[in-house]
Amino acid sequence: MPLNRRQFLQSTLALGALSQLPRLSLAASPSADVDYELTVAPADIQLVDAGTTPAWCFNGGYPAPVIRARQHQPIRIRVRNRLAEPTTIHWHGLRIPIAMDGVPFLSQAPIPAGGEFLYEFTPPDAGTFWYHPHMNSVEQLGRGLVGAFIVEEAQPVAFDSEQVLGLKNWHVKADGSFDRLSRPRYAARMGTPGQLQTVNGQQHPSYPVPAGGSVRLRFLNLDNTVTYDLTSSVDDARILAVDGNPLAQPVTLERHAMGPGMRLDVGLLAPAAGETVTFYHKGKPLVTLHSEPGEVRHGQIPALPLNPVPAPDLANAETLSFVFEWDAAISPVAKQGEASGPSFWTINRRSWEGMSQGNIPEPLARLKLGQTYIFELENLTQYHHPIHIHGHTFTVLSSDKRAIEPFHTDTVLLGKNEKVLAAFVADNPGRWMYHCHVIEHLKTGLMGYIEVS
Ligand code: C2O
Ligand code: CU
Ligand code: CU
Repeated sequence: MPLNRRQFLQSTLALGALSQLPRLSLAASPSADVDYELTVAPADIQLVDAGTTPAWCFNGGYPAPVIRARQHQPIRIRVRNRLAEPTTIHWHGLRIPIAMDGVPFLSQAPIPAGGEFLYEFTPPDAGTFWYHPHMNSVEQLGRGLVGAFIVEEAQPVAFDSEQVLGLKNWHVKADGSFDRLSRPRYAARMGTPGQLQTVNGQQHPSYPVPAGGSVRLRFLNLDNTVTYDLTSSVDDARILAVDGNPLAQPVTLERHAMGPGMRLDVGLLAPAAGETVTFYHKGKPLVTLHSEPGEVRHGQIPALPLNPVPAPDLANAETLSFVFEWDAAISPVAKQGEASGPSFWTINRRSWEGMSQGNIPEPLARLKLGQTYIFELENLTQYHHPIHIHGHTFTVLSSDKRAIEPFHTDTVLLGKNEKVLAAFVADNPGRWMYHCHVIEHLKTGLMGYIEVS
């Protein structure tokens, strides 16, 4: 049943009976003590016919394994680093303890070349999330280290068919070799776009769906740079969840902007056998579904239960203002602790300094554990920025540019010169990254962290 604005803001779920649920049997794992093993290593993959691409992959291929966890049940993932450089893995959008957040220096020591780390946590929310390194991000993500992380609902929801759709544009030339992943003059603007548009590593793939069946599509923007402008060939596709979090009331997908790091769960009923549904980015086809005769047991789109995101206490909230600006630094600023590079962007007039062992800059803000905050996010640039927070989920309240029905997200896409109010309860102690998810923007200043204690 649809919730009104007030009910949505106050909603909490009864979590009582969850411990009695059957345990999900997870994908076969090579060892008995973990659910998944991920080996991070170089691997040559085939993206174009003319040649292979020297990618960096999880478990030797692309797309990466889709990790499936169950809401409120622990999962253990061993990560082995076989790159020639350190890495960490971050679980984007999951509200889990800081020690498992996968940010170098702030939450864990980097996993050295040849080393390994055991991640173990219990996802509180169900939905479409993802995983990626949090070191040398332009290159580690740009070369292919991105994967889908699905958290199944504690009480299963029934669709006839489901498809994970990982969107990524590769910076590769016609022969498959890599082009430059970043160019300063683009980093100072919208970011350096890749040339090869793919879904699950393929150009415009096509997937079968059972005619008349209910279909759940999990779109993920795994790209460093591109904001996808998603449209479809049908007029009854429905947005069920945004960035992993179900909407109180699904809306029809007309056009939806998905910045880097963002996700979208779309529900639809497959058309008659022989017919197709296509999804587009700026009018170019991304993926097509073709209906085939098949078993249909449900034939209707189920409602997704809301996630147990704590309701912000707006009456007693404290407002903090964050202003995102372009900083016309003429001479590049050398950063400590990582390869030096230019700095183009600021949060509250400060450009992220970078960090290293024993050298962690000051937080952007110190938050009191348990207190509700309203972040006033103000974009004073002519580019958009997907602003992401770790360890918490925003409730987006309003914008000065568009009408907003409050919704939950871990990444707020700020349009140019837009101001958005987003609230959350600072209920997760730790030092949490807070940054733009255009990877070249975070690399050139648009990053920081908040401390909750
Ligand atoms: Cu996808 Cu710091 O995050
Ligand atoms: Cu994240
Ligand atoms: Cu940005």
